[in-house]
Amino acid sequence: MTIQQAKIYGKNELTSSPSPELDVAVLLQHITGFDKTHLLLNRDYELTSEQEGDFQSAIERRKTGFPIAYITGHKEFFGLDFYVTPDVLIPKPDTELLVELALDALEDKFRAKPDMIPTVCDMCTGSGCVALSIAKASEKLAGSNEQLENQRAEIKFTLVDISEKALVVARKNAERLLGTSETMSRKGSDERNNVQSSGGRAKQSPENTFRFPLSTFHFIRSNLFENVLPTFDLIVTNPPYVPHSESVELLKDGRSEPLLALDGDVDLDGKPSGSDDGLGLIRHLVPQCWEHLNRNGVLIMETGEYNAEETAELFKQAGFRNVRIEYDMNEMMRDVVGVK
Ligand SMILES: C[S@@+](CC[C@H](N)C(=O)[O-])C[C@H]1O[C@@H](n2cnc3c(N)ncnc32)[C@H](O)[C@@H]1O
Repeated sequence: MTIQQAKIYGKNELTSSPSPELDVAVLLQHITGFDKTHLLLNRDYELTSEQEGDFQSAIERRKTGFPIAYITGHKEFFGLDFYVTPDVLIPKPDTELLVELALDALEDKFRAKPDMIPTVCDMCTGSGCVALSIAKASEKLAGSNEQLENQRAEIKFTLVDISEKALVVARKNAERLLGTSETMSRKGSDERNNVQSSGGRAKQSPENTFRFPLSTFHFIRSNLFENVLPTFDLIVTNPPYVPHSESVELLKDGRSEPLLALDGDVDLDGKPSGSDDGLGLIRHLVPQCWEHLNRNGVLIMETGEYNAEETAELFKQAGFRNVRIEYDMNEMMRDVVGVK
């Protein structure tokens, strides 16, 4: 089978995909290792029998609704290439706003206090896409402003998720995207991060912390803040916020994303909260964030366009000031921001 024949075959098979041509192109790039241009210029390239087998099985999986990102193991987010598996939500373009707002908040903090080393928590980290994008972009933050020219973008990151499998993916992304990791000793990391080191699921291990030029990254398995001791200057979070009934409906298309990452109508024990507004977990999360923020600390939370206003109310009830809703590129209410 040539590339041209593979394109025709794939397009004819993927009739239920909203983007058959793009799907086929991405799969062929992944399988052959060719880039877009190389693929276009080499239509007569004959796939090896292994490549042809891989392509046909990828098409079969895609026909069930299985996402391209899970087939290739890659998803671009904030200009970076993230490793993804069905253990994590596939990073969505809407979530890039959360990163942009976090960078603005950090820039404000550096401007107010140039020698500070901010502490940032990415609660519900999944693939780590939010914290790691902030880390990569903040490398440039220091050099982007005259006043901050000599600022070393040193940040202490804590990445939290209830799913150990998600944390495995987040750690792998940290190593891939931030370069060679230098693991630190258990004793050192515990002291530096003031993190609970025994009991519960926050068991520390050397792999749970690593340094990348100046910043440190700490990974904690925790049910919201249950196993997280420190307080932070900034908390960013994209928690599960989809109403239960809608989550179940969404998963019928074969997308295979974890229900745990979508369903917002759960309680702290993981059982149904009885609500169907997507705010079951957020009702616990907002006051917990308040408890884990330093004075003047900022909370930025992604929500659905359908429950952003209710979330903003929860921020106010918890005591947050300057509460505002930010809109995404589709003019949808997407993030709620508040200051302690
Ligand atoms: C919507 S996904 C967000 C993933 C990633 N931050 C992103 O933006 O693509 C929500 C994440 O929250 C995690 N999660 C769900 N319930 C949690 C809980 N009670 N405590 C901590 N993390 C939780 C899920 O495992 C999932 O990785």
